[in-house]
Amino acid sequence: MIKIAPSLLSADFADLGRDAGRLANWGADLVHMDVMDGHFVPNITFGPAMVRALRPHTALPLDVHLMVENPAAWVSPFRDAGADIITVHAEADRHLQRTLQKIRDTGAQSGAVLNPATPLCAVEHVLRDCDLVLLMCVNPGFGGQRFLPQLPEKIAALRRLADRLNPALEIEVDGGIDPETAKLCREAGATILVAGHAVFSSTDPAGMIRQLRGA
Ligand code: DX5
Ligand code: ZN
Repeated sequence: MIKIAPSLLSADFADLGRDAGRLANWGADLVHMDVMDGHFVPNITFGPAMVRALRPHTALPLDVHLMVENPAAWVSPFRDAGADIITVHAEADRHLQRTLQKIRDTGAQSGAVLNPATPLCAVEHVLRDCDLVLLMCVNPGFGGQRFLPQLPEKIAALRRLADRLNPALEIEVDGGIDPETAKLCREAGATILVAGHAVFSSTDPAGMIRQLRGA
């Protein structure tokens, strides 16, 4: 039941169509796309035009992680471009419930994201508006950072909260995921693992995806 979502942030930006197209053969379940605006996080990546351009290159669902200010304004553009899952940071949105509802109204799956320092209570009262919650395991902005050791406890606490309020909730984790930290996250209750560096720097990406899955 564990899903693996390789992050294109660590793919070859000059050949993203090719790299996105390879993910299904490698055994990936989702394509994770990191949208950064240079304000919410100290880096800039790409916008809806890139999602639209990549859509024909894979049949896998596109998991769009919005690291942007005012994410509500970007829900429709990314959905129209082909996003299947849209996640927005609780820290970036004054009206998180409204935005999550807006995502669902477009027919996409909705998710709230928490930075490592943001407590779970920031999403407790919107858990029923979420198909998934994404817990950042690094401070967002860059690939290849080290997993923060306090995250497994946070994942387990979210699992307990979700078992009470929304048992179907998926828990996605993102940042510093390798075979070792993947195991900690799976044991704590994560169901979707994002991995950029681990997959794209591997000489055997399919084997790496199997390892992350715990197969
Ligand atoms: C970080 C991004 C992640 C990133 C993960 O801001 O949200 O999705 O690509 O990369 P790794 O797996 O290399 O830590
Ligand atoms: Zn991400």
